[in-house]
Amino acid sequence: MKLSNRSVICTAALFAGLASALTPRHNSASSLKHRRAPVQSRRVQSLLINVDAQPDLPTVEAATAAASAASLNLDDIQGDVLIGMKKNQELFYFFSIANATDFKPKLASDILPLITTTTQLLSVNTQPTTALNVAFSQTGLTALGVTDALGDSAYAGGQFSDLKNLGDPGSTNWVPQFTGTGIHGVFLFASDTEDNIDAAVASLEAALGDCITKVYTLQGAARPGTEAGHEHFGYLDGISNPAVDGFVTSPMPGQAVVAAGTVLLGESGDTVTRPTWAKDGSFLVFRQLAQLVPEFDKFLTDNAVVEPGVLTPQQGSDLLGARMIGRWKSGAPVDLAPLFDDPALGADPTRNNNFTFVHPDAALATNQTRCPFSAHIRKTRPRADLGTPEDAVHHIMRAGIPYGPEVSDDEAAANTTSTERGLAFVSYQANIGNGFRFLQKTWADNANFVHAGTGVDPIIGALAGAQRVVSGLDPTDSTKTLTLTTDFVVSRGGEYFFTPSLSAISGTLAV
Ligand code: HEM
Repeated sequence: MKLSNRSVICTAALFAGLASALTPRHNSASSLKHRRAPVQSRRVQSLLINVDAQPDLPTVEAATAAASAASLNLDDIQGDVLIGMKKNQELFYFFSIANATDFKPKLASDILPLITTTTQLLSVNTQPTTALNVAFSQTGLTALGVTDALGDSAYAGGQFSDLKNLGDPGSTNWVPQFTGTGIHGVFLFASDTEDNIDAAVASLEAALGDCITKVYTLQGAARPGTEAGHEHFGYLDGISNPAVDGFVTSPMPGQAVVAAGTVLLGESGDTVTRPTWAKDGSFLVFRQLAQLVPEFDKFLTDNAVVEPGVLTPQQGSDLLGARMIGRWKSGAPVDLAPLFDDPALGADPTRNNNFTFVHPDAALATNQTRCPFSAHIRKTRPRADLGTPEDAVHHIMRAGIPYGPEVSDDEAAANTTSTERGLAFVSYQANIGNGFRFLQKTWADNANFVHAGTGVDPIIGALAGAQRVVSGLDPTDSTKTLTLTTDFVVSRGGEYFFTPSLSAISGTLAV
């Protein structure tokens, strides 16, 4: 496989106008409100994608009212944390801090004024040309001289030391830059064009000079045309993110509602004691997950569900894929559309998440006619399988984006990936052990979850490279097992980061 990350091109300064309009140094939380007031409208069109099937973001007015009732400060929370999988173009720029003494004042003067808040991102009128967020690894915080422990052991250890717990077969497939603990931070640049991002990168690099070193970049992009919002296997993504209390006022039917402290440190529902300055930050899990799309498609063709007189071979292979995910490519859940895709259902956010796996005509604990226990969405959110009301703790805000090119004709013909593509996976949570790590290790990789013999998650479940046995994928015989000798999703590694609030940057990290 060859890597296709584009290099970062240096072009004209983009942020100059905005940055010069702002007071250069801000060292207290109270200055934030003042600093955010004069934001000028620069856009006529949102930098976020807008897919009908995904729940709309709340309006600024609704979010502000909800936040004020819950005492949440959306002007202090970085924009990506609560927004979810809606980016058009996004560049992940991983860096190390070469000179902390020089970096800290620039963090206050050159980075902080450019950080896009939640409020800003909600409205086209206040969105910048290119949004910027920043997050730090444990070694990054240490480099900045922060000695307070954030209260999360996975974060403190870093992802490299955690890789065996995630099912990765060692680090042989890891991007070399992710091995070890050399990445101190990541800038997230988001816009609607790569040119905008290039200009923003050039401007920031010019401002920071040699106090940071670029370690690695990964360019993500929504897939083209009608595939926008779909991940590379073809399935619509970003449908089911939790509604965070204090942000979303009108949850969609079936959407999980979680306390703000499930995602944000120090908020209601976060049970760990944190340093006060860490409040309203969130842990960002980054994983570069390569997807072997032609190999996945071949597997579906070779193992199509057979129902003579009911399904054509193509429909049988489409059904197998839908059962592995738990949704059809349109987003329609197999729990509500068990045999054929229902694009109208998929496109309707008032219906496409409104299910619990409970049906009056089927035993919840044994019946897999509609949705297999091993389906990706059932493994990662078992809904009523764990009882009613559903588990409130193990939820994440997913904010990833596809990377890499479309499958070429040659790759499709050869059933073999030759250029890397996949998902730049991002999740936000207040507790990595309850969030991403729990979903991956305790649910997806566990062959006996949610019931003995269920098998691993056929999409992301990993057993250190060993073959994976999955049951329940054939609706005509739920005792039948399929043996997957290929991991269609390959971990290329990543890191655990902390996305601080803006006041934590001005009051602690940059001081
Ligand atoms: C390349 C890797 C992955 C692919 C292709 C993928 C694909 C998908 C798709 C198509 C959906 C359904 C759309 C939706 O409900 O929003 C989904 C949902 C979900 N995925 Fe993934 N995913 C991947 C990695 C992961 C990882 C690593 C995790 C966490 C460990 C994860 C957790 C979830 C969760 C929590 C949901 C929502 C389930 C629900 O609320 O019903 N995914 N994923």
